[in-house]
Amino acid sequence: MANQLAETIADEMKGARTETLALFDLAREQDLRESPGFGFRPIIWHLAHIGVFEAYWLLQKLNHEPSPDERYERIFDPIKTPREDSKNLPTRAEMESYLASVRARVLRHLEKAEFGENDPLKRDGYLFRLVLEHEQQHQETLLYLLHLLDPTKKMRPSEVEAINCGVSIRPSSTKGETVNVEEGAFVMGATGNSFAYDNELPPHTVYVPTFKIDKYLTTNEEYAEFIAEGGYRRREWWSDEGWAWREKEGWRHPLYWKQVDGGWLVRTMFEEGTWSPHHPVTGISWYEAEAYARFRGKRLPTEAEWERAASWNAERERKSLYAWGDERPSTRLCNFDNRFWATTPAGSFPEGASASGCMDMTGNVWEWTGDEFCGFPGFEAFPYPEYSEVWFDGDHRVLRGGSWATRASVLRTSFRNFFRRHFRIAFAGVRCAE
Ligand code: AVJ
Ligand code: FE
Repeated sequence: MANQLAETIADEMKGARTETLALFDLAREQDLRESPGFGFRPIIWHLAHIGVFEAYWLLQKLNHEPSPDERYERIFDPIKTPREDSKNLPTRAEMESYLASVRARVLRHLEKAEFGENDPLKRDGYLFRLVLEHEQQHQETLLYLLHLLDPTKKMRPSEVEAINCGVSIRPSSTKGETVNVEEGAFVMGATGNSFAYDNELPPHTVYVPTFKIDKYLTTNEEYAEFIAEGGYRRREWWSDEGWAWREKEGWRHPLYWKQVDGGWLVRTMFEEGTWSPHHPVTGISWYEAEAYARFRGKRLPTEAEWERAASWNAERERKSLYAWGDERPSTRLCNFDNRFWATTPAGSFPEGASASGCMDMTGNVWEWTGDEFCGFPGFEAFPYPEYSEVWFDGDHRVLRGGSWATRASVLRTSFRNFFRRHFRIAFAGVRCAE
């Protein structure tokens, strides 16, 4: 290979592909060809979509080659082809051979690639990183969709048996503890030490007044108190739109909970299982997160508050790439990368605490913030408006921090995730502020 960067990228792309293909071994092809629920596209659709995105950027845009397959380009474009038309898809085998032929050509280009400083699409391998993170983000989406599939339709990989989800250290109670973050300015957004999307830029100084934020993620036990106090019946904790969604979809509890005499069961990836009081709540929409915060007499953190609490070291006046610092993510520091296939009890990674003292800010579950998804001051769409800009529509809210299924590349503290307010299938929960 021409250089070290090209070699690193090639290795990461190959590793990601192995992980992607392994996800499609979790269920039978016939089940992957159906919508897993709520009108979502068949799981198998994502396989070819990953290849089409790679071909578009790395063959067509970067190297001016013609589209390898115009039919694929049409069917697997999420915007051009509405969800309802994602039917009669090619077989898994056909998709895999499409992916392999695209990849072979991409790797040949990579061998002689130049990462020219003057071209922002080439600098530091920008487009290759874009394609890699795209695949890794779809891996997480695939896990949301696979989670929706009934456990009886899934094959548990042998490695899952061996995982010890009861991570050793956990505080005895995580209830009600908050940390105080003193007023001050900090730098919000990506500061240039890693790949970043357009929506993380430009970095800018923000003054944040003093606030309190929960040290821990809201647990199942705490959320059950909200339900017991009439959380899903009491109108006063809900916004108008939230209440309308609650009515329409009949929300009575988080997505994967099931009420049984005197308690709850929770569905995890492979079983209808035990409800664990100390795990963070997930499977809630932004509306539910907001209603929960109101029940506590609190509110959702703003994005700026969240990022300051997660990444800013006020003493050293510097921000870190992850909650704990710049060290690469590992299972000593957080729950990520689908290493545990599930949430871990809130506060299980004391070494992964942020400088302000918050736990689980990187990994475990995404955290809904109060803010609408929009561009930072000076935002410029790059390299295409469909990644961020078209979603600045007033309905999307920002989530921060990453989940147990998030790959390391997407865990940086400046990463802004965004979903519609009623979206419940993300591995997302809530941390309140006041
Ligand atoms: C940033 C996770 C909301 O899945 O819609 C995937 C990422 N963009 N393909 C999404 C994305 C294009 C995006 N999220
Ligand atoms: Fe995509």
